[in-house]
Amino acid sequence: MSQIAKLSALSLAIALSIPEVSAHPLFSGKVVSRADLLPEYDYVVVGAGTSGLTVANRLTEQKNVNVLVIEAGDLDKNEDFVTIPGLAGGAAGTKYDWNVTYTANEGLGGRKVPIPQGKIVGGSSKLNRLIFDRGSKSDYDGWESLGNKGWNFAGLLPYFKKNEKFTPPTKEIAAQYDIKNDLKNHGDKGYMQTTFSPFFWPTTKNIVKATKALGIPINDQATGNAIGGFFCPHNQDPVTVTRSSADEAYYDTAVKRQNFHVITGQQVSRIVTKKSNGAVKVTGIEFASSASAKRQSVKVKQEAIIAAGALFTPQLLQVSGIGDPALLKTINVTTVVELPAVGHNLHDHVLLAVANTLNTTLITSGSLRSNATFAAEARKQYDTEKKGPLTSPTGDFLLFLPLQTYSNATSAIASQAKAGKASASLPSDTPPEVAKGYQAQYASLNEKLVAKDSAILEIIWGDGTVILGLQHPYSRGSVKAASSSVFDAPLADVGFLRNPIDVALLREGIHFARRLVKTEGITELKPVEVAPGANVTSDADLDAFIRRSSSTLFHPAGSCKMGPKDQGGVVDSELKVYGVEGLRIVDASVMPILPAAHTMTTVYAVAEKAADIIRGSAAYKAACLE
Ligand SMILES: Cc1cc2nc3c(=O)[nH]c(=O)nc-3n(C[C@H](O)[C@H](O)[C@H](O)COP(=O)(O)OP(=O)(O)OC[C@H]3O[C@@H](n4cnc5c(N)ncnc54)[C@H](O)[C@@H]3O)c2cc1C
Ligand SMILES: *[C@@H]1O[C@H](CO)[C@@H](O)[C@H](O)[C@H]1NC(C)=O
Ligand SMILES: *[C@@H]1O[C@H](CO)[C@@H](O)[C@H](O)[C@H]1NC(C)=O
Ligand SMILES: *[C@@H]1O[C@H](CO)[C@@H](O)[C@H](O)[C@H]1NC(C)=O
Ligand SMILES: *[C@@H]1O[C@H](CO)[C@@H](O)[C@H](O)[C@H]1NC(C)=O
Ligand SMILES: *[C@@H]1O[C@H](CO)[C@@H](O)[C@H](O)[C@H]1NC(C)=O
Ligand SMILES: *[C@@H]1O[C@H](CO)[C@@H](O)[C@H](O)[C@H]1NC(C)=O
Repeated sequence: MSQIAKLSALSLAIALSIPEVSAHPLFSGKVVSRADLLPEYDYVVVGAGTSGLTVANRLTEQKNVNVLVIEAGDLDKNEDFVTIPGLAGGAAGTKYDWNVTYTANEGLGGRKVPIPQGKIVGGSSKLNRLIFDRGSKSDYDGWESLGNKGWNFAGLLPYFKKNEKFTPPTKEIAAQYDIKNDLKNHGDKGYMQTTFSPFFWPTTKNIVKATKALGIPINDQATGNAIGGFFCPHNQDPVTVTRSSADEAYYDTAVKRQNFHVITGQQVSRIVTKKSNGAVKVTGIEFASSASAKRQSVKVKQEAIIAAGALFTPQLLQVSGIGDPALLKTINVTTVVELPAVGHNLHDHVLLAVANTLNTTLITSGSLRSNATFAAEARKQYDTEKKGPLTSPTGDFLLFLPLQTYSNATSAIASQAKAGKASASLPSDTPPEVAKGYQAQYASLNEKLVAKDSAILEIIWGDGTVILGLQHPYSRGSVKAASSSVFDAPLADVGFLRNPIDVALLREGIHFARRLVKTEGITELKPVEVAPGANVTSDADLDAFIRRSSSTLFHPAGSCKMGPKDQGGVVDSELKVYGVEGLRIVDASVMPILPAAHTMTTVYAVAEKAADIIRGSAAYKAACLE
């Protein structure tokens, strides 16, 4: 509970009542034991999470290619807090969470922010809040402008669609909220079940009304125009009304294949490489069940594919000798490939909550925790009819706002950014090529500040709580292995609010949150601000609140970014690690810059595209013929 208590207001709001683990049937899938392991695989995937299972599933569609996935966590037991949408997020802080914490954050007055990460088959897609959205066209087109040919919205759209099997909202919800979806933007053959909640909390109507009253348009996020308000789909099955994760989607549909092997409870400890004729090539993967357990290894015939997530992927490269020689020296690791950018460019969306109490007779999500009778009724309704409050993970309507939509300070902040130094965003030990690459990001961020097609702030309405999410933070941090052992948690400095522009953007967000609750639609709920409190008005007091209260929206990314090597890229546009043959990265670490969206949907699209890139490679084709 103490771990959960440390999480943000958002997860707090939902995660409080973790019910008893009930007796759902165990997962039926087959997992290889040590004895069934082959000595060699064409492909070894590190991490059975969101991206890893996606890639492994697609590679094993050709039956001549064999794949082993190695996962540190275990299969879950279909616990309620994993499967029921209304309890989503509840697995954070349990044994399915790596339970790591960002390092003491200077911009937050030295506070340490916990960062949940899935340690389970399905990875963070088992812990998350089921928000299933795409970013805007400008977000992905921006990746291409940073030197990644073909990585733009048009290039990713087929993969967003390939991932999903979309079901439109129920007739009742579609009619009540006037939700329209153009099916041409959605997939109908993917493995990921996506749809809308069959129940929206009643004050969703109030936030929609206020959005309209403010003249903010309501769009469809799937089109590449994820700007303004939108009704948000979730990765949940419309029939069973349970979570659809990488496990249900990509593991269940591949597990019967002879060539798809998964081993759980084993942490990869090293990428084994061999140097010959000046080239470094991956030859194997080493793993163990604990720090003291004997290391085992498998040989890699074609490629190792790293999908351990934005915090653990750079750590694994570093302990394997791929990284910054200066860092590797301090942890007693011999440098195999000099690649100083590994671990740099880490960033995450900042979360800040402005909280109001409401005085209304409408039912609100807090009733699930404060009213046992209500909670029991909701549970019964879910169990018997798959309807009612527990079918919604909340977040059924979101706002993604350009700066000029939520603030009148656009030109002032844009001038501040223009006059500022890019280096103000970076840790002092940033390698020169990373700083050079960030210079290009800085210019791109400055353009986003004044653009109409780029969202700077997300608003998640939660029955009086206005969650602000900073979508294009300037600040950057880094991930560093703490020692030569992968079993020692990596040191992840997320660098929140290092650059004061990020504080200014959130300060404007607080002003907007106040304007929002004073708008027709919300006023009738009689909101009273409790945090930061109506007396907190000066810039200095607001900034102190921001630094005291900011936390994470759970979207770490960018720590092994895709990009030109001389601009701090760790992987090229085919996701190959520079200087190593037979090594790719396919997880959230490769994003050059976060999109204005929750990250899961983008991770799936990147992984689907990665699988196609690998399948198009000569090595894969050769393996198919064998
Ligand atoms: C609490 C929470 C809420 C979130 N809410 C949302 C949301 O509502 N919507 C959204 O879009 N996104 C959300 N996200 C973010 C989203 O889930 C992640 O961005 C995405 O799942 C990351 O995918 P990945 O493949 O990069 O990593 P992961 O899915 O985390 O997979 C990494 C896997 O690698 C394994 N691993 C790590 N190291 C090793 C090793 N050395 N050896 C073997 N295995 C290893 C891990 O155990 C894990 O299974 C949330 C995340 C969290 C934690
Ligand atoms: C998480 O880590 C903290 C200390 O860092 C520890 O007190 C706590 O028990 C851990 N929780 C779990 C679930 O492992
Ligand atoms: C590195 O090795 C030296 C000498 O063996 C030892 O003193 C030091 O503690 C080691 N450092 C780490 C981080 O393991
Ligand atoms: C809530 O509203 C009712 C009806 O308007 C009023 O009587 C009551 O005092 C209010 N409660 C609070 C705590 O403000
Ligand atoms: C608790 O929920 C029950 C059932 O929905 C409802 O009848 C009752 O009024 C609620 N109690 C309070 C104090 O809101
Ligand atoms: C900007 O200022 C004008 C005039 O005071 C006001 O009407 C408008 O709502 C403000 N817009 C924003 C986004 O704050
Ligand atoms: C606002 O009021 C609260 C409660 O009275 C007080 O603790 C806090 O210091 C005040 N903050 C400011 C900035 O005045």
